[in-house]
Amino acid sequence: MAEAIKFTEKTLDYAKNPRNQGDMADPTAIGEVSNPDCGDSTIIYLKVEDDIIKDVTFETFGCAAAVASSSILTEMIKGKTVEEAYKMTEEAVAEELGGLPEKKMHCSVIGVEAMRKAIENYRNGVVSSDED
Ligand code: FES
Repeated sequence: MAEAIKFTEKTLDYAKNPRNQGDMADPTAIGEVSNPDCGDSTIIYLKVEDDIIKDVTFETFGCAAAVASSSILTEMIKGKTVEEAYKMTEEAVAEELGGLPEKKMHCSVIGVEAMRKAIENYRNGVVSSDED
């Protein structure tokens, strides 16, 4: 029998009431990443001023763990420099949620990768790369 997946209360809260969800008018940079295995995807929108992340929102088309991870990530990087945000890891995101089941760890990756892609676009002076 398949083992039931248990999420922390915090993960369930962020999945049901995602913070900073939605697109953004006039973002400085956008990053989008899909997981080829499950097809889920996340878009991160950044507003950057003087290398500081002034605002960040996300859209996730995917599972509860991906929504919760992307949502809490936006809170973790808001106000940080792009340098600091770029170093954020999926392990730190999972830890902030109080842990993710081993099988769902990969769900925390798409948000982090989408954020890094957005930062790379910002560094390249473009809003988004068409080949995304
Ligand atoms: Fe696809 Fe979670 S199952 S991101």
